[in-house]
Amino acid sequence: MNTSNRINQIKKSAIHEMTRLSKQYDDVAFLSWAKPTTGTPKHINDAVIEAINKGLTGGYSQSEGLPELREEIVKKLKRDNHIEANTSQIIVTVGAIEGLAASVLTTIDPGDEVILPTPTYSTHITQVRLASGIPVLVPLNEDNNFALDIEAIKKAITPKTKAIMLCTPSNPTGTVFPENTLRELGKIALEHHLTMITDEAYEYFTFDNARHFSIASIPELRKNVITNYTFTKTYAMTGWRIGYIHADEEMINQIKKAHIPLAICAPVASQYAAIAALKGSQECVKEFRLHYLNARNLMCERLDKLDSVFEYNKPEGSYLMFPKILGEQGNDSITFSKNLLKEVRVSTTPGIAFGLTGENHIRLSFCVPEEMINKAFDRMENYFRKNK
Ligand SMILES: Cc1ncc(COP(=O)(O)O)c(C=O)c1O
Repeated sequence: MNTSNRINQIKKSAIHEMTRLSKQYDDVAFLSWAKPTTGTPKHINDAVIEAINKGLTGGYSQSEGLPELREEIVKKLKRDNHIEANTSQIIVTVGAIEGLAASVLTTIDPGDEVILPTPTYSTHITQVRLASGIPVLVPLNEDNNFALDIEAIKKAITPKTKAIMLCTPSNPTGTVFPENTLRELGKIALEHHLTMITDEAYEYFTFDNARHFSIASIPELRKNVITNYTFTKTYAMTGWRIGYIHADEEMINQIKKAHIPLAICAPVASQYAAIAALKGSQECVKEFRLHYLNARNLMCERLDKLDSVFEYNKPEGSYLMFPKILGEQGNDSITFSKNLLKEVRVSTTPGIAFGLTGENHIRLSFCVPEEMINKAFDRMENYFRKNK
């Protein structure tokens, strides 16, 4: 079989492997999903049915997306992200994932380095590898609630560095990087002519006093930032595969050269869903956020009772958290996760899936019904009591 070195270097995803293993058992308590379990709100579904019945969805749209959708996105960027954009600065994409892939392909040449504060969303690392780039993993500061380590990032910059890629709020740690730190990072990007590729998939899910900040709202950085957004999390629309990129117009025209061979355009039915999502009531987003906040609080309460097994930072955003496994059992997070699945049918994601710095951790997702969290923790409490 002839396969490229590019593909050969990519290892099987530990996340997908755990999903595959989980399917071998009945009655699994899932804390490994990072997708909303609620359905897409009805008003969004209804609008798409109407668009289908009107015969609007069978053809391609403009490769950058329907003008009406881009107009709604411009309004949203102004209202919620404090970004003054116009419709020529937007490409509607097949989820954030396609946007991120196109962003990376547009930014780097083979052998270029991309700095990724880690643990991070493993797909970002894979995307850099797929573009024949070199991911440079710079650890977050776990002792300071997984904060960005600005000094370590500065030290990691070499003449080969082209970009910094990060998600805020973060998958897997749930950290919301604060405005002042992101501004510092922006200054570094300007100084070293780096592009910042940001993934803001969880922008609406922040808790306590944390506020989401879009670095593209800093006018001086407009040529240095490519921001990737998605409808997936905000409106529980994973399957619709719809997101968008915002960047400076010149950069957008370059990214389009990657977007067209990757996708031609985003699915048109999904673009109508996105229009309905943006134009409709935002109550559903508030409800999802409240559900995640309550689920986070419950998960933290349950983790507090397992303080001889886990130590954790309370996540301020996303619907994920990344507890540290105490003691030697944490040294192999894959075996730890597999044991939990085999012994008590609790599905978690091994931390190693998020870069080497993720070892000794598991990722737990609280975008599940509260009963699922209680079921999983009842089982884990029993298991760890017996295996003390
Ligand atoms: C940080 C992050 N970015 C992007 C995605 C996927 O986004 P989309 O469904 O829009 O491609 C996920 C999904 O888990 C994610 O956690």
